[in-house]
Amino acid sequence: MYSEKVMDHFSNPRNVGEIENASGVGTVGNAKCGDIMRMYLDIDDNGIIQDCKFKTFGCGAAVATSSMATELVKGKTVQEALQVTNKAVMNALDGLPAVKVHCSLLAEEAIHAALWDYAEKNGIQIEGLQKPKSDIHEDEEVVEEY
Ligand code: FES
Repeated sequence: MYSEKVMDHFSNPRNVGEIENASGVGTVGNAKCGDIMRMYLDIDDNGIIQDCKFKTFGCGAAVATSSMATELVKGKTVQEALQVTNKAVMNALDGLPAVKVHCSLLAEEAIHAALWDYAEKNGIQIEGLQKPKSDIHEDEEVVEEY
């Protein structure tokens, strides 16, 4: 049911870990299953992504897509990194079973959240980048007292 590339990235994930003093960090949760992903980006002064690492509390498909996504964004500009969509990652992995497609969104959203963090820290705007929706903090219930 899984392609060889998915199995490879699941059994031997690339770029697992953290980056100290990362240029941008994004944490997102998948509302469907409750899994969590954190992505770290190291971006140089020219806006090139020099390094990317991830940590996840997620399923095998989330591990494989995140591993592939980190490989795809490395060496790219922040603008180019926006093209690393979940579809692009799935294509690079030779596809995912339909029930696992939502898992691939974690990687895309975590990259966007990390880019958003980078842009905020540097007071810049990245064209086409939307504020991340599924940051886990936004999923927390807000209790308001009157
Ligand atoms: Fe949660 Fe795949 S089942 S990310």
